[in-house]
Amino acid sequence: MIWETIYSHAMEWVKEAGKNIRQSFDKTLDIQTKSNQNDLVTNIDKETEQFIIRKIKEHYPNHKIMGEEGFGDELVSLEGIVWIIDPIDGTMNFVHQQRNFAISIGVYENGVGMIGIVYDVVHDEMYHAFKGRGAYLNDKKMPKLETASISEAIIALNATWVMPNHRIDHHLMIPLVRDARGTRSYGTAALEMVYVAAGRVDAYISLRLSPWDFAGGAVIVEELGGIVTNLRGEKLNYLNKDSLLVAKPGLHKTIIEEYLKNGEW
Ligand code: IPD
Ligand code: CA
Ligand code: CA
Ligand code: CA
Repeated sequence: MIWETIYSHAMEWVKEAGKNIRQSFDKTLDIQTKSNQNDLVTNIDKETEQFIIRKIKEHYPNHKIMGEEGFGDELVSLEGIVWIIDPIDGTMNFVHQQRNFAISIGVYENGVGMIGIVYDVVHDEMYHAFKGRGAYLNDKKMPKLETASISEAIIALNATWVMPNHRIDHHLMIPLVRDARGTRSYGTAALEMVYVAAGRVDAYISLRLSPWDFAGGAVIVEELGGIVTNLRGEKLNYLNKDSLLVAKPGLHKTIIEEYLKNGEW
């Protein structure tokens, strides 16, 4: 019972937050940088996170909250009910393009993903799942994922990961890019994950993401039988940063075993 209420509250609040974001489009943004000059944050990222957190605290004062912009709690464990929030995933797109960004929320109970919501604000597309009850795009149930071969796969990844890079052995990525049917790069981890869920791409790879980037999308993809791990093929820990491989069931195994298994990710 309680979970159904949480599910409908989460969707209602995300919709309202999305409406506020759309209305902000004609106003001047206050843009700041964080860790480097390309790491952007705006007043709208902060206001959206504060709006959602205010709603959670009002209705569920005992729940814990992790938010990218720091208005949540300092979490040291995932015990209890934890909301993991990215108020705007794809801030660079939000600032430069006013599209290709999403609000992402995952609600976890003792580390298990119960609810996933990724809202494409501009297209008014709400991807959502409740563990064990199916995953939906707006009101439409999404079908289970079937496998795909590399030669017919579109893989979402950022060009950075195929360049010489201090983080990775980029040489391992080159054959993967060569063998795939195509690659795409959307600049928003949350949407790239739900694009796997919706069958728009077959896999998504990233070398370094934070829990708020993948917590919502993971519940949706897993509900459809997609596989979500780091690049070593291990389960994610929703308290830590990690690499990410999201893919259709058989394709995930192929990518790990035939391409990535010798990497030090
Ligand atoms: C970013 C986006 C981007 C990914 C970055 C993330 P943000 O999230 O998901 O696609 O490559 O690593 O930080 O900062 O726009 O919420
Ligand atoms: Ca950010
Ligand atoms: Ca993000
Ligand atoms: Ca963000």
